[in-house]
Parts: sequence; structure tokens; C-alpha cells
Amino acid sequence: MQSRTDYIDLYGRLKHDPLAISRETGALLYMLARNSRARTIVEFGTSFAISTLHLAAALRDNGGGRLITSEFEPSKVARARENLAAGGLIDLVEIREGDALQTLSADLPETIDLLLLDGAKALYPDILDLVERRLRPGAFVVADNADYSPDYLARVRSPASGYMSTPFGGDVELSMRIN
Ligand SMILES: C[S@@+](CC[C@H](N)C(=O)[O-])C[C@H]1O[C@@H](n2cnc3c(N)ncnc32)[C@H](O)[C@@H]1O
Repeated sequence: MQSRTDYIDLYGRLKHDPLAISRETGALLYMLARNSRARTIVEFGTSFAISTLHLAAALRDNGGGRLITSEFEPSKVARARENLAAGGLIDLVEIREGDALQTLSADLPETIDLLLLDGAKALYPDILDLVERRLRPGAFVVADNADYSPDYLARVRSPASGYMSTPFGGDVELSMRIN
């Protein structure tokens, strides 16, 4: 598991790599966002915005909405902006540049329909803490490669946690906020 302190170095070394979700996870994100008629989405870990494109496309097809995404690598933020502009979806997306522990700690929508966790795995519980009280009942939380975050998995799988949660497709933990 990544430590809570080495993630800045790690992702600095990976700043040229897309590290994108799989094609199947992209389809899953689009379907979840469409089926839940999502209007407000938060994403931890933008990279080149492959996942962001799937989610923003769903918002567009839902009639509009707001997607807040977070990335601390400036060159990746620039690349993400280009990709979202090329896809005609940039108007739906706010990219918050900086460490998500700060950028997602304020000014979030009152209600959030879907959360994607795809940044530093050791921070999944911390990011969930920032967003949790805004998740509406029925909101989805998709955590990519959550096997690297055992504390997160223990939390969302605990019966008392307020989630229903299941591994999905090999690399995703799919959770739904119950209350
Ligand atoms: C696995 S990649 C995201 C891939 C992206 N979701 C996609 O499918 O295209 C993880 C990204 O999160 C960023 N990241 C990791 N920890 C972060 C943090 N604490 N705050 C902001 N960005 C972070 C990394 O720089 C990296 O670009």
C-alpha cells in the first residue's frame, strides 16, 4: 500500500502516464451516472481526464450538471483541459488544481450524486470524509483499485458504515450510500 506521505513523489514520477481507468470502468461510470440521473459529481484524481470524459458525457446526456475534479500535477491539469475542450465537455467541469485534501475541503455542492475515488489510494478514507455528509441516499461511490486501500474497503464494507458495497469487475469497489 502507498504510505500517506510518499504519494506526492510517486505521482510526480508518474506525471507523464495517463494511469486511466479501464474501458469497462468508463462504461460503468457512464451507466451509473445516467441511471441515477446524476447532476453533481466529484472526482478525486483527474490525470488526463479519461474518467472525467465518461462522467461529463453522462452529465451532458442527463441534461447538464456540475463535475468537480481534482489533480495536483499542473501538466496533467493542462492536458485534461485540452481533452475536455476537444470533447466539448469543458463547460461542465471544474478542475481544482492542488492537493485534493485541500481543494475538496470546501465549496462543494450541497448534494452529491456520485463520487469517483481514483487518486492516491491511501487517501481514499480522507477524501470520503470530506464528501460523505453531502452524498445523497442512493449516491454511488466508485473506488478504482481499492484493494490498495484496505482501510477504505473495511469502512465501506462494514455493515454500520451506511453503505452497501461490493467488488465489481476485478478492479473497482462499487458502493452505494444508504442513508
Ligand atoms: C490513477 S490517476 C487518475 C486517472 C483518471 N481518473 C482517469 O481515469 O483518466 C491518479 C491521479 O491522481 C492524482 N493525484 C494523486 N493524489 C492526489 C491528490 N492528493 N490530490 C490531487 N491529485 C492527486 C495523480 O497525479 C494522478 O494523475
